[in-house]
Amino acid sequence: MSLKNDLILRVARGEKTERTPVWLMRQAGRILPEYRTIRNSVSGFKELVETPELAAQVTIQPVDILDVDAAIIFSDILVIPEAMGLTYEMVEKKGPHFPETINSQTDLLKVEVADPDRLGYVYKAIEITKNELNGRVPIIGFAGAPWTIFSYMVEGGGSKTFSKARRLLYTDAGMADQLLEMITESTTGYLKRQIQAGADMVQIFDSWAGVLPPDHYTRFSLRYISKICDAISEVPLTVFAKGAWWAMEEMNKLNCQTVGLDWNMNPEEAKRQLPNKTLQGNLDPCALYGDNDAIKTAVKKMLHTFKGHPYIANLGHGVYPDTDPGKVKYFIQSVKELSLSSSFPQPEAPWQKRVYNKNADNPLIFKSYSR
Ligand code: CP3
Repeated sequence: MSLKNDLILRVARGEKTERTPVWLMRQAGRILPEYRTIRNSVSGFKELVETPELAAQVTIQPVDILDVDAAIIFSDILVIPEAMGLTYEMVEKKGPHFPETINSQTDLLKVEVADPDRLGYVYKAIEITKNELNGRVPIIGFAGAPWTIFSYMVEGGGSKTFSKARRLLYTDAGMADQLLEMITESTTGYLKRQIQAGADMVQIFDSWAGVLPPDHYTRFSLRYISKICDAISEVPLTVFAKGAWWAMEEMNKLNCQTVGLDWNMNPEEAKRQLPNKTLQGNLDPCALYGDNDAIKTAVKKMLHTFKGHPYIANLGHGVYPDTDPGKVKYFIQSVKELSLSSSFPQPEAPWQKRVYNKNADNPLIFKSYSR
């Protein structure tokens, strides 16, 4: 099925496009009353995630309502620990909770490398979404980064400090590596199946990257992200490591196409340290609490700072649940309108000239080189 709007894929490949593509992390659910209606018709979040027809419906809602340039499949990063044997509960107004956690070598016996077949409901939701979107926009598949998933499995939920997860890196690095390796293998198989089901690009969320010191980040997070990047060559891949501003230079070496930036990251530094990557981000989600004029000014400033680099507009993290959908719409519209103007042309990336022109029609040899 050919895509009517493939802007985001072309920019990820470093191609020149007519305008800047835009979507929002966590655009499905959260802010939309239309989501709440469907959510209230089922017993809870997990039933929604595990019912492919409904998951597809809420995936498409932001495409219809907000007019974004990509759909992100409605699911959660926590389906991986569950498929590995550690179930979670989504506690209303509180967030995820794991009744069982992994804190020692013997705890490792509770989990195994996930059989990708256990996540059939996600692939089915992608297939239905693909069918229903009928090529309107690409579908983004996703997974959590091994370090972020590890944190949930060790802590049993969110945490202010992640001190249990971080402690293990000092007290039992061998055990930490074993669990990280199992998560990495599970995640690779899972992403491959999402791609087979129809995901046009995939994103790895390392939401808790910023709690690690830089040397541990390299050793316990990037190392495993890098393995996933090396294993996924079918579609463009984005790595979003929230808080890891000090890792940009190393991330330039990852075998991925796009790097996501949070709002603390400096776009000028990112352009300098990530010359081989398309950049994505990075408006402060709180900017959407401002009035329309302020949003437009912020968008203009953002487009200006990323000027001259292949770029996908987004927020610097997921949209906050109490954001007015009208403001989100205005943000999206502003990116579209302003980036069409000749002041903010999408450039052709230097690496595009070198490699892609030759292989443009063959997605399978898409990453047969290293940027
Ligand atoms: O638009 C999308 O991005 C849809 C899919 C999506 C969800 N979660 C749905 C969801 C994605 C990509 C995620 C990723 C996710 N989940 C991350 C990484 C991104 C990030 O924000 O850093 C993390 C850390 C989680 C774990 C998680 N899931 C938490 C902490 C919570 C509770 C708080 C909240 O509302 O986000 C969830 C629940 C969750 N995941 C909801 C949704 C729509 C809300 C559940 C509900 O409807 O009650």
